[in-house]
Amino acid sequence: MAAENERHGLAQARPIPVVRLAGIEKSYRAGRINFIALEDIDLEITRGEFVALCGQSGSGKSTLLNLVGGIDHPTSGSVHFLGQELASMGDTDLSRLRAREIGFIFQFFNLLPVMSVFDNVAYPLMLLGKAKSQARHDVFAMLERVGLRDHWQKRPAELSGGQQQRVAIARALVKKPTLIVADEPTGNLDSETGLSILDLMKEINAESSTTLLVSTHSEFVKDRASRVVELKDGRVIHDSK
Ligand SMILES: Nc1ncnc2c1ncn2[C@@H]1O[C@H](COP(=O)(O)OP(=O)(O)O)[C@@H](O)[C@H]1O
Ligand SMILES: [Mg+2]
Repeated sequence: MAAENERHGLAQARPIPVVRLAGIEKSYRAGRINFIALEDIDLEITRGEFVALCGQSGSGKSTLLNLVGGIDHPTSGSVHFLGQELASMGDTDLSRLRAREIGFIFQFFNLLPVMSVFDNVAYPLMLLGKAKSQARHDVFAMLERVGLRDHWQKRPAELSGGQQQRVAIARALVKKPTLIVADEPTGNLDSETGLSILDLMKEINAESSTTLLVSTHSEFVKDRASRVVELKDGRVIHDSK
């Protein structure tokens, strides 16, 4: 059938991957020493996937997430996000793309301590210039979704670690990004709380087909992910795809 289509010039258009890493190397120079943090990375992530990125500490997980999120650039190779090469974009366009399309979740939550839960979640929408009334509606809907509506006036420090991570999830999701990049989101939580966070992420992945790329040490993530990619010494040594 594929050959048939091709002959008639009807080659099936493949959906554009959310992320495409091709021939990636990332090295860090420390004095005269060149340290290779990632090499030979070729990876495509398609819409709706829940990818667990595994590997020991130092294997290159955060480095890879930073490249995908446009926070850092590769030494060689290319990073495409929805078909656009990040290195070819100017700073303004790259910032705009990140603000619209990518939600970040971190190990230590990274909430703004002087702002309320509501304002933390509203912040990305303010940056995008969303109208206040619409933003208010979206923030409350998201807080409801993560089970924290009643806590909207609190400061992050008044919440447990698990609750703070739920706020961070709400903040990452409120703008309905194409991709969520989460760097060891359960790394600072006890295992039971970590599990409930992962279940929440899995539910969100299923109901909104938001693409998730989650780095982790935890076996629980692997159980919930649709795909497991394992790094060792900066290389992909296993990809369950
Ligand atoms: N900014 C940096 N400068 C120099 N070396 C770095 C830098 N960031 C990371 N590295 C090194 O790159 C390797 C991979 O780090 P990282 O991506 O943080 O791994 P992981 O997240 O899997 O623990 C490590 O050996 C680390 O020391
Ligand atoms: Mg890391």
